[in-house]
Amino acid sequence: MENYSLLRHNTFGMNVSAKRFFEYSSVDELRKVIACIPSGDSILHIGAGSNLLFTGDFEGTILHSNITTIECVGESDENVLLRVGAGVVWDDFVRYCVSHGYYGVENLSLIPGEVGASAVQNIGAYGVEVKDVIDVVETIAISDGKERVFSRKECEYGYRRSVFKERLKGEYAVVYVTYRLSKIPSLKLSYGNILSKINDASSVTLKEVRDVIVEIRKEKLPDPEVMGNAGSFFMNPVVDSSLFQSLKAAYPDMPFFEVDGGVKIPAGWMIEQCGWKGKSLGNAAVHDKQALVIVNKGGATSGEIIAIAEAVRKSVKDKFGIDMLTEVNYI
Ligand code: EPU
Repeated sequence: MENYSLLRHNTFGMNVSAKRFFEYSSVDELRKVIACIPSGDSILHIGAGSNLLFTGDFEGTILHSNITTIECVGESDENVLLRVGAGVVWDDFVRYCVSHGYYGVENLSLIPGEVGASAVQNIGAYGVEVKDVIDVVETIAISDGKERVFSRKECEYGYRRSVFKERLKGEYAVVYVTYRLSKIPSLKLSYGNILSKINDASSVTLKEVRDVIVEIRKEKLPDPEVMGNAGSFFMNPVVDSSLFQSLKAAYPDMPFFEVDGGVKIPAGWMIEQCGWKGKSLGNAAVHDKQALVIVNKGGATSGEIIAIAEAVRKSVKDKFGIDMLTEVNYI
């Protein structure tokens, strides 16, 4: 399709268009589409557009997967292997796992987006990252349509990082992700206030955990259908132990998480300390219930979103001496 509106394809609600837009339902169709793209054209593969900020019309080709199958490709007494199309809505997959009694993704309930993006972004929430359950990622090279299967190790996963976002950015389209889920009960309930919302942790079910996660997310995170947003706008910075010690001395109540390579400081907490929670600049605002989220109050331009993000970033740098990186991709 030519000059196609992207309004329904980005959760920030930017009213922009793509010069060409192709949706494909099979690997064969993707190969045919790739072969038709004019050489030299810029190509962007999107999922649900829940982590993007379009800064204008896209003068190239946008690809979107509509591969929506879920198939069981292996099973033992302990595990099940599910091969899932990149176009499956992420939360539909979580609901499927919970209803079949498969453990591993329940803490990732209600994260916006699709299965393909889960593997690119290494989505995470409430003490779980999707890399913990990824077995392999099947891709097609955009340059020549050849298949390449990445093992979990080859995906080079880190906090909100993968080879698909960095070293091989834009080179491969994810077509299927195979997840290894557990049939043996195993729940992660220690993050934040999950436990306080559960009646009896010793007999809690998979469905109850999903319901609690959904409730917590709904309390804090704005629904993009109501108010445009792309979830966390910034990543949580990881600082070295000497900076952490000096910050902790100055701010004894500062929340923190020890991780590989340093200490993670919640950016939302720093933004709130800078007084930004609930504040607006034009039609863009810092969400009043979760300061890590920037919202489109209605009719915001990408310039307004970027202006408030830069003002927030500067405040945090001035007060804490920390540079925050955006989690949202500017296109
Ligand atoms: N906090 C504040 N003020 C705020 C927001 C947070 O003080 O306005 C404090 C909280 O009280 C808590 C700490 O910061 O002590 C962490 O807050 P929260 O649990 O809400 O999580 P987060 O670090 O702000 C991350 C992910 C979210 C994910 C939550 C829950 C990133 C960039 N974000 O946010 O992911 O849902 O943890 O696990 O890592 C997303 O990626 O779009 C996203 C929403």
